Amino acid sequence: MIEADLAVVDAAELVTVAGPAPKRGPGLREIGVIERGCLAARDGAIVFAGDEREYRRRVRLIRSGVEIDATGRTVLPGFVDSHTHLPFAGSREGEFVDRLNGATYEEITARGGGIHATVRATRAASLEGLIEQGKRRLNRMLLHGTTSAEAKSGYGLSLEDELKQLRAVRALDALHPIDLVPTLLGAHLVPAERQSDRESYVREVTGRMIPEAARQGLARFCDVFVEEGAFTPEEGERVLRAAGERGLGLRVHAEQRGASGGALLAARLRAASADHLEHVTEAGIRALAASGTTAILLPGAAFFLRETRDAPARRLIDAGVPLALATDFNPGTCPTEAMTAVLPIACLRYGLDPAEAIAAATLNAAHSLGIGSRAGSLEVGKAADAQILDVPNHRHLAYHFGVNHCRTVIKRGRVVVEDGRLAGPGPGYRPAG
Ligand code: NIG
Ligand code: FE
Repeated sequence: MIEADLAVVDAAELVTVAGPAPKRGPGLREIGVIERGCLAARDGAIVFAGDEREYRRRVRLIRSGVEIDATGRTVLPGFVDSHTHLPFAGSREGEFVDRLNGATYEEITARGGGIHATVRATRAASLEGLIEQGKRRLNRMLLHGTTSAEAKSGYGLSLEDELKQLRAVRALDALHPIDLVPTLLGAHLVPAERQSDRESYVREVTGRMIPEAARQGLARFCDVFVEEGAFTPEEGERVLRAAGERGLGLRVHAEQRGASGGALLAARLRAASADHLEHVTEAGIRALAASGTTAILLPGAAFFLRETRDAPARRLIDAGVPLALATDFNPGTCPTEAMTAVLPIACLRYGLDPAEAIAAATLNAAHSLGIGSRAGSLEVGKAADAQILDVPNHRHLAYHFGVNHCRTVIKRGRVVVEDGRLAGPGPGYRPAG
């Protein structure tokens, strides 16, 4: 018999998203739906995923074990949000209203708002302040089913302030159930005070920020915003090569507002991901397919910027590019922590099947972050990171939109959200296991 300390039983659908590698092409919609499904874990790792009959035959719950009845509900892997700008200070609802009244994102940036406004707020914040704001955001993510997330700096734009953001991420990773993967985005924008000498700023990123972040183990990836008004492909290449030499993985903000060449750069340097891609060219798509770089699409940002042009999701899938979906959570272009806000937009705007969207939001996202061997699917040996949704099948996630169906979240075999509320010491708290 398999011994378990936690089990979720009799789900209307247990969606495993099982698979040894990122899902591509027609395989993207094969998400492994088990009706009357059961999941069991021991010491934080999955020990069983299968149907009810097999569960009853093979699994025994230890005396102190917890069994959760998921009758009528759907169980999914926890979401993996592979692109967020988590550690920033403040908010920019004033700019949101300005845009509604006709201002463009570029105009707002040019007059010192946009990213520059968040840089000022983030520089003024203390490490403790960033941690406090980050914790509240992570709680919202968890309540919406996210169990792992990437977190970029990029609102410090000086050595000390970029490292402060990354230290906040490290502290949050230690104190919060959500696992965080840190990314240095020192090359987000040339800071306002150095616009007249961008070369010295690029040298600061390559010569000081990257070596320090790597030396202190504060970043696993390095990202660069390759875009008109941000960094050229040549500058991006210098940044990414410096990061590669220090052992960091590579990610690129590519082709968001125009055809910047970011996708070709990402493919040539074998980056882990190229993100946004609204304006990617056919050559860019072919190059990403050949390099195996994950295309991370951020439909929430395009929606929030009222873009009329969608990323060519179907062409990317047909070309065999591994596709992931993420929030792009940030104060300017997508202020939502919820992957469930993004999935309906992806289905409606890109024409993704809900099953494709789920694979893109879990297993493929995990692989793009280098955590695919332990997260992103419900398979024996992986971390028991799962969510239970009050819906009868996985299609409701995109269909019945705008409400939070997530009732229970399990992180490494521990119940961290119960009845739609954070589980913790307090009223109604019942330790799991
Ligand atoms: O991913 N593209 C660049 N950076 C962010 C926006 C940042 C902001 O507006 O604060 C993005 O959309
Ligand atoms: Fe982004």
